[in-house]
Amino acid sequence: MTTLRTIAEVRAATADARRDGRSIGFVPTMGALHEGHLHLIRTARRAHDLVVISVFVNPTQFDDPADLAAYPRVEDTDAAAAQAAGADLLFAPSAAEMYPDGFATTIEVGGPSERLEGASRPGHFNGVATVVCKLLSIVGPDVAYFGQKDAQQLAVVRRMVTDLNLPYAIQAVPTVRDDDGLALSSRNARLAAADRERALALSRALRAAEASVAGGRASAEEVLAAARAEFAARGVEPDYVELVDPITFTPLPTVDGDALLAVAARVGDVRLIDNQPLTRNGSH
Ligand code: PAF
Repeated sequence: MTTLRTIAEVRAATADARRDGRSIGFVPTMGALHEGHLHLIRTARRAHDLVVISVFVNPTQFDDPADLAAYPRVEDTDAAAAQAAGADLLFAPSAAEMYPDGFATTIEVGGPSERLEGASRPGHFNGVATVVCKLLSIVGPDVAYFGQKDAQQLAVVRRMVTDLNLPYAIQAVPTVRDDDGLALSSRNARLAAADRERALALSRALRAAEASVAGGRASAEEVLAAARAEFAARGVEPDYVELVDPITFTPLPTVDGDALLAVAARVGDVRLIDNQPLTRNGSH
């Protein structure tokens, strides 16, 4: 695996691959790679000739400077893990390479970015959309892979790619969980031991909602009550527990067709999110 620092180097490497008719899979990350990221890389590896991963802690998507400062930066470990999972190229640019002096463009996606995470973290999705658009244009992949765990991010990226006619396919990859159900996240490492157990409120809420739908209860009121009970049982106050359309992220009154239960909560000092796609006949 080769580590590249500049946009020009990545463009040259991917242009060579394209000229040779090789397909390109791309996994954008902010590093601190865990099994969830490695699953994305392995998925890309199975489907493409060239697998590119980016590791860039994007300052413009952090609304809280303390969160940005605390974000883990472990490039050597990341490089070893990415290589073992099958990546060919690691793009690890500096902030100045991505945002040189005079940088003045922001992509603002309306629609799916407006509620939930968008409301809790002002400016977050503008930062995500802008950096993802840049990364896609730099790498030029056939397919870019995103985790289902960040379902709203995925919806925002899909909206942007459609609206701006960007010629890249976006593929969602299912959430990877610890054995007890906690969704893997780079933030989990910051959970205090006592909070690790309380953090299970999120995944248990999703399972309770699933069981409620499987048991024939489909109104948002019933499904949300089942989910909220799991937060209450662990003394965790959720930021939100919502049943939404997975494309528009607008609230749904019932599980009828595709629906997504989205949850977020601060557990100790750490803000966690999780979600579960639901259908009338169960989850998928
Ligand atoms: O999901 C992430 O790690 C980031 O939001 C992304 C997509 C790499 C953009 O910085």
